[in-house]
Parts: sequence; structure tokens; C-alpha cells
Amino acid sequence: MKDFQQLITNRRSTRKFTDEPLSPEQVETIMKAALKSPASKSANPWQFVLVENKEVLEKLSQCKKSSSKLIAGCALAIVVLGDPMTSDVWIEDTSIASVMIQLQVEDLGLGSCWVQIRERFTADDTPSDEYVRVLLDIPLQLQVLSVIAIGHKAQERPPFDEEKLQWEKIHIGKFNINQLGE
Ligand SMILES: Cc1cc2nc3c(=O)[nH]c(=O)nc-3n(C[C@H](O)[C@H](O)[C@H](O)COP(=O)(O)O)c2cc1C
Repeated sequence: MKDFQQLITNRRSTRKFTDEPLSPEQVETIMKAALKSPASKSANPWQFVLVENKEVLEKLSQCKKSSSKLIAGCALAIVVLGDPMTSDVWIEDTSIASVMIQLQVEDLGLGSCWVQIRERFTADDTPSDEYVRVLLDIPLQLQVLSVIAIGHKAQERPPFDEEKLQWEKIHIGKFNINQLGE
């Protein structure tokens, strides 16, 4: 395992992937991380749909007007779903699961990108969640939060620039209004 500080410094969104598929072991490791995500009251309101079929990935990549095309080139798309009937904080729980997936992916030396679905629209103004729901037979009771596109990195991106950290967003003791807009 990499040092955690190094892992979060090096993790950048990957939007270009090679054609190499993931191994079953890699997929299992990633899904174990998802299923170990902390959730409010341990309600675990998430469900995950795994898509590897190229034709389905191509269709999934059209789920938004823009910034979803990268899905077509990934090896695995994990569609993260939440059940509002199971938890009133399903958005938080599914967001945490999405990040757990991304960190595990990075730790495996693979790349990923979060594609936002909730509150987004397709090119013909269909809600993105509805588009994904129809494509993947998702029951009405479940909401679609995100698609995490995963694969072997076909691009190297520079690590986080520590010089650009927004320290003004950190307030010591009480909120310092003077730091707003700095
Ligand atoms: C909630 C959320 C939604 C995002 N939606 C998209 C998206 O739809 N398409 C995309 O290409 N990247 C998306 N991203 C990735 C961000 O653009 C990216 O994390 C941000 O620019 C910082 O870059 P980095 O991840 O390389 O550090 C999303 C990230 C988050 C956390």
C-alpha cells in the first residue's frame, strides 16, 4: 500500500484509459472498498451497477450534455445508486462510497473519474438519472448519484500542487469573514 499522503497527492481525475480490462481481482478489491464505506446509522443505502460491456458504456457516455464522453473509453463504470427510503442522507452516503471507490482505484495504480448524474441533463434535456435508469433497468425507488469511470491510465497527470492549497478556507477558532473572497 502506498503512503496515504502520497496517494491523495497523486490522485487526479483520469479521463483517458487504455483498452486493457481490469482483472476480476481488481474489481473485487474495488467493490470491497465500496462495501466498507461508512454510512449513517449503518443503513448502507447504496447499490452499485457494474458495466463493462463496450456498447453499454458507449450509451452510458451519452448520459450528459458534456463531460461524460470519457465513460465510453473506460474499462469499468460503476453506477452508484442510493435509496432515499433507506436513508435521509443517501446523498452523503453514496458520495462517500464514490470517493472510497476512487481512492481504492488509485491505490491499485488505476485511474478514475467521477461523472455527476444527479441534477444533470442529456443533450436533449432528459434528466441524466432518468436516461441511466432506463438504460440499466434501475427501479424507481433508487436514485442515481454518479458514474465512476475506471481503467488503466492512458495519461499521466501532475500531482496536486501544494503551493495552490486554499489555506484561506481554514478558519481557526471561529469563522474569519476577512478570509472570504481572498
Ligand atoms: C461531485 C463531482 C462531480 C464531478 N463530475 C464530473 C463530471 O461530470 N465529468 C468529469 O469529467 N469530471 C467530473 N468530476 C471531476 C472533477 O472535475 C475533478 O475532480 C476536479 O476538476 C479536480 O480535479 P482532480 O480530480 O484531477 O484533482 C466531478 C467531481 C466531483 C467531486
